[in-house]
Amino acid sequence: MFLAHLLRQAGVEAVVLEMRSRDYVEGRVRAGVLEQHTVRLMHRLGIGDRVAREGLVHAGTTLCVDGEPFHVNFSDLTDGGAVTVYGQSEVMKDLNVAADRRGIEVIYEAADVTPHNLDSHAPVVTWKTRGEPQRLECDFVVGCDGYHGVCRASIPADHVKTFERIYPFGWLGILADVPPCNHELIYANHPHGFALASMRSPTRSRCYLQCSLGDRVEEWSDQRFWDEFTVRIGAQYSARVTRGPSFEKSIAPLRSFVCTTMRWGRLFLAGDAAHIVPPTGAKGLNLAVADVVVLGDALAAWYGAGDDRGLETYARRALDRIWKAERFSWWLTNLTHRFPDMDVFDRHMQIAEFAYLRESRAAQTSFAENYVGLPLDF
Ligand code: DHB
Repeated sequence: MFLAHLLRQAGVEAVVLEMRSRDYVEGRVRAGVLEQHTVRLMHRLGIGDRVAREGLVHAGTTLCVDGEPFHVNFSDLTDGGAVTVYGQSEVMKDLNVAADRRGIEVIYEAADVTPHNLDSHAPVVTWKTRGEPQRLECDFVVGCDGYHGVCRASIPADHVKTFERIYPFGWLGILADVPPCNHELIYANHPHGFALASMRSPTRSRCYLQCSLGDRVEEWSDQRFWDEFTVRIGAQYSARVTRGPSFEKSIAPLRSFVCTTMRWGRLFLAGDAAHIVPPTGAKGLNLAVADVVVLGDALAAWYGAGDDRGLETYARRALDRIWKAERFSWWLTNLTHRFPDMDVFDRHMQIAEFAYLRESRAAQTSFAENYVGLPLDF
């Protein structure tokens, strides 16, 4: 949807094919931390009013190690940098309302979407709407269809290069209409495992616990969740935890994944279709936005001046940022989680890394500049 708006601004016509319904897309619970570039792009696209009004600007975060908190101040360390807490579902609503207003064509509940002739100059996409076959001839296909999507799978297997790391735990997340236990996020590393205190608004908490891969949601009653959460988040914050019934509870596995084949003929991959980060650090949505900023520019130059240099260098330029976000998400996951196969040496490395972060402004600056978002030109 970001790319559709970027292309519309450049005068390029695009059609968005969405497998799900609009209600599903606008209700789907995902991360909720926007880098400053993502917010800047929303303003640039004329969809920034609500995030400016309702988004919660966070100028820092707290890391809590074995119950001992320390604060990292992003704004001091990055010359005024900050992130904005604003749910992905809210971003989707803003994109969709503006798409309606601008007449951007979005086809919901498109079934059996299949790209064809991707290695020719005349790709075609076919799909079904309410069982009726449909067909679209186009110049380019952009696969923004996620990890399980059809686009990456359309590239011949011997041309696809991928890199992957699977983590030996999951995240159990809940949403509850209770005030957050702190005005900013808390990332906690506790002997029982990782915990994250996040939020969606001053009255809505989003909290996560590291869990075993084999755990099932039904095994985690709200009572068990809050009992464990208050232990892991540390004594200083546990007294401020307001318990309440969850209205969303799910378990997600953690994975790092990069497909370096981001172009195949007239197909370009963006977002989760090309890369997955573990959720720690909330880079997923932001990284997808960064991809389409680069791709939107490249497509605009092709349509405007017949210049294909941007398209030729898209994968290289996008991957430069992708690998850095992969590194940061991997690093923060390694720092904050208890791995089942950790030995005493690994644990000492974590303790030393935390100690260094606590004491060194240089180390904190590195953390902060990655968290608020590495530079993105547009
Ligand atoms: C959220 C998720 C994250 O992965 C993170 O690092 C911070 C916040 C969230 O969903 O609120």
